[in-house]
Amino acid sequence: MILLLLLVVNALFDVVTCISQHPVLIVVSYDAFRYNYFEKNGSLYMDKLRKEGTYADYMLNVFPTKTFPNHHSIATGLYPESHGVVGNSFYDPKLKRVIKMSEEMWRFRDDIIPIWTLNEIRGAGRYSGSMMWPGAKYLYNNKNITYIQDWDIDADWYKRVDTIISWIKNPTKPANLVMLYFEEPDTHGHVYGPESDTVFNLLKRLDNITRYIDDQLLANDLADYVNVIHLSDHGMSSVSPPNFINITQFLKSNTYEIADTSPCLHIIPDSDFEQETYKNLRQASREHGNFSVYWKKDLPSKWHFKNNRRAPPIFVLADPGYAFQDLAEAAQTYALKYHINITPESQFGVHGYDNEDTDMHPFFMARGPKIKKQHKVSPFHTVDLYNLFCDILEIKPVANNGSSANIKAILVSQAERNHFTTLGIAVVAVIVSLMLVSCGAAITLLVIKRQQNITTIAALNKRFPQTFNTNAGIEAQHLLESEEA
Ligand SMILES: *[C@@H]1O[C@H](CO)[C@@H](O)[C@H](O)[C@H]1NC(C)=O
Ligand SMILES: *[C@@H]1O[C@H](CO)[C@@H](O)[C@H](O)[C@H]1NC(C)=O
Ligand SMILES: *[C@@H]1O[C@H](CO)[C@@H](O)[C@H](O)[C@H]1NC(C)=O
Ligand SMILES: [Zn+2]
Repeated sequence: MILLLLLVVNALFDVVTCISQHPVLIVVSYDAFRYNYFEKNGSLYMDKLRKEGTYADYMLNVFPTKTFPNHHSIATGLYPESHGVVGNSFYDPKLKRVIKMSEEMWRFRDDIIPIWTLNEIRGAGRYSGSMMWPGAKYLYNNKNITYIQDWDIDADWYKRVDTIISWIKNPTKPANLVMLYFEEPDTHGHVYGPESDTVFNLLKRLDNITRYIDDQLLANDLADYVNVIHLSDHGMSSVSPPNFINITQFLKSNTYEIADTSPCLHIIPDSDFEQETYKNLRQASREHGNFSVYWKKDLPSKWHFKNNRRAPPIFVLADPGYAFQDLAEAAQTYALKYHINITPESQFGVHGYDNEDTDMHPFFMARGPKIKKQHKVSPFHTVDLYNLFCDILEIKPVANNGSSANIKAILVSQAERNHFTTLGIAVVAVIVSLMLVSCGAAITLLVIKRQQNITTIAALNKRFPQTFNTNAGIEAQHLLESEEA
C-alpha cells in the first residue's frame, strides 16, 4: 500500500517537473488553409478534432490578406497600420527603399511585442519557441526568445513536431508557448490552384501531421496539459490566364516602382509622376474594369491599412478572380519548375483580396484543458487571438486592437475551472483518505495479529516451556487450538 502511494506521488512529481509550471499553448499555422477546405473531405482527422473542441466557421482576417501582415496581426493583435507589416513587401519612405523579408520589415517600432516575446517578459520560467513562424526569429524588446528554428522549406514536417515536443519537455527550460508553421497548402496552392488534386492531397498530408501532433502529445503524457490552436492566415482563390491584367502597359516605364504582388500592388511613382501615374491607372480601371485604384488617403478606413508611413502612395487592387502581370511572370516560373503547361484553363492560386471576400477567410479550431468541448463560436477577428493567447497563458496583454469579449466563449470559464479544480481536489482527497484508512487498517490488523501471536506464544511457552520457541507460533497455535477444542 505504501509502495503504491509512493508510486502515485512519484508519477505526479514526474508529470509536474517534466513540463512547464505555466499553462502550455501550441499555435499551429497552416498557410492558406481556406475556411471551407474541410468540405473537400481530405482532412477527416482535423474535421473530427474540430468538432471535439471549439471551432468557428471562419475568422475575419486583416487586409491585405497576405501571409506576413496576417501572421503579424495574429502574433500582436494589431492591425497592419499599427504593426507596420503592410504587405509581403512594401516601400518605406523613411528608409527610401522597398522592404522585403528582413528585421526592419517586422520591427516597425520597438514597442511592438509579439505574443512569444510577451510570454517571456511576463515572468521567470516562461519560455517561448518558434518553429519557422514568420518574423519570430528577429529581436523584439531587444531579445531573442529561447527556441528559434529558422525557415527551411526542406525541413521534414514530422521532425518539426518532434522538435517542438522536445522544447516542451526540456528539463531546464520547458517551453510553455510554441508557434509552429507549415507552408502548405499555400506553396503548391499558388501553383496548382485551390481546387486542384495537389491541394486535396496536401490536405491529406496535413491531416496526417495534425494526427501526429496529437499522437505525440499522448505518447509523451502531455495531452492533458497542452492547449493546441490550429489556424490559418488567409484563404485562396483561383485565377486563370485570360484574367491576368497587364497593368504595366498603362504606366510610363522607369517612372515608378512596384512592391508586393497580385492582387494588391503598391505603386510608388517617382516624385514628378504621381499625378500622371494615378490618372493613367484610374483611366485604365474605368476602361478595363476588374481592378480599383486608390490614393493612399482614399484607402477605406475599415481596412486599418492606411495610417502608416509604409502604406502605398497609390494602391491597386484586382477584383476577385483577377490578377496582374506579375502573376503571368510567376506562372512562367511555375511552368519551368513544376513542368506544367499553361493553357487558358489553367488555374493559379491567389490571395490578398478584400478581407470581406469569403474565399480569403481562414479557419480556426482549438482543443485542450482550457478549451470548451464540442463547442462552436461565432466568427471573430484574428486580431482577437492575441487576447485569447494571453488568457490561455494567464498573462496580461499589452495594448492591442483585439476585443476580449469575442473570445471568452472559447474558454472553459473560471467558474467551470474552479468547479473542476474543486472536484479534482475532492477526488484526490477521497483517494488519499481511502489510502490512509486502508493503511491504518492494515497496520492495526498487523499489530493485533502480532499481539495475538505474542499472547499465544507466551501461553504456550508457559505450558510447554521445553518444546516451543518464538519461531513456532503457528504450529503451536494449532496444537493449542486442538487441545482447547
Ligand atoms: C464530403 O462528405 C459529405 C458528407 O459525407 C458529403 O455530403 C459531401 O458531398 C462530400 N464532399 C465531397 C467534395 O466529396
Ligand atoms: C497518411 O497516413 C496514412 C496512415 O499512416 C498513410 O497510409 C497515408 O499514405 C498518409 N497520407 C499522406 C497523404 O501522407
Ligand atoms: C490599435 O491599437 C494601437 C495600440 O494600442 C492603437 O495605437 C491604435 O489606435 C489602435 N487602432 C484602432 C483602429 O483602434
Ligand atoms: Zn499565407
